[in-house]
Amino acid sequence: MSRALTFGTRADAYDRLRPAPAPEALDHVVPTDARRVADLAAGTGLVTRAVLARAGAPAVVAVEPDPRMLARLAATTPAALPVRGLAEAIPLATGSLDAVLASSAWHWFDPPVATAEIARVLRPGGVLGLLWSRADPTVDWVAEVRGIGRAAADGSARLSRRGFDIELPAGHGFVDELPDAVTVRWTRSMSRDDVAGMVCTYSGVLELPVADQDAVFRGARDHLDRAFPDSDSPLVVPFETVVRRWTRS
Ligand SMILES: C[S@@+](CC[C@H](N)C(=O)[O-])C[C@H]1O[C@@H](n2cnc3c(N)ncnc32)[C@H](O)[C@@H]1O
Repeated sequence: MSRALTFGTRADAYDRLRPAPAPEALDHVVPTDARRVADLAAGTGLVTRAVLARAGAPAVVAVEPDPRMLARLAATTPAALPVRGLAEAIPLATGSLDAVLASSAWHWFDPPVATAEIARVLRPGGVLGLLWSRADPTVDWVAEVRGIGRAAADGSARLSRRGFDIELPAGHGFVDELPDAVTVRWTRSMSRDDVAGMVCTYSGVLELPVADQDAVFRGARDHLDRAFPDSDSPLVVPFETVVRRWTRS
């Protein structure tokens, strides 16, 4: 199985434990007059649902290649329009979208091919919004607990801040509107088991044998007990959503 399709092995855990984007972050990438938006690499629909929850929400086409992720999305998000497809071959009509969003997914795409496809399906003036939502790695205990998963995955699941320094291939008419990115921070209360479970929803961990995934869970859980020895109450987990935006001329 390709690593890009490991998420579907734990689609329910992914949907329950990974963060949806901060609602304010979507203000930067969902035009107020948008009528039809695609959530590309929609996964289980975390972004799709956040867009549909907005006042005056546009129709949202959720494009996702993994049928297990798409099944979860269809079950939890009946208002979405689920479509099986890839960023490199978007099964939607030319000029049919006001915005294309892709969250925690750009690194899975073939940038030249996906950029050409996104330019094709967007209307002139349409928006490409790239987002990343994750527990804030600048907070020590978050970095440490994620590091347990990365170490088991041989460091390859790392997404540094450099991951947001994206330059779209030239020639498709995209104008970079947020070169410095916008970061929105928020917190979410989670149990220790859920924080440890979230560490296990990253592809580097998901492609390990199940026994090794269990070891990552136990290691993360033990680390949390050492970091927060005083109580078994839920943890206040700091999160961030990072946003980039381009407009298609
Ligand atoms: C980390 S998940 C992000 C899911 C969702 N956007 C979110 O924010 O929760 C990455 C998703 O990208 C999908 N994916 C991988 N390669 C893809 C491609 N070439 N085109 C479209 N989606 C892809 C995977 O199936 C997976 O659902």
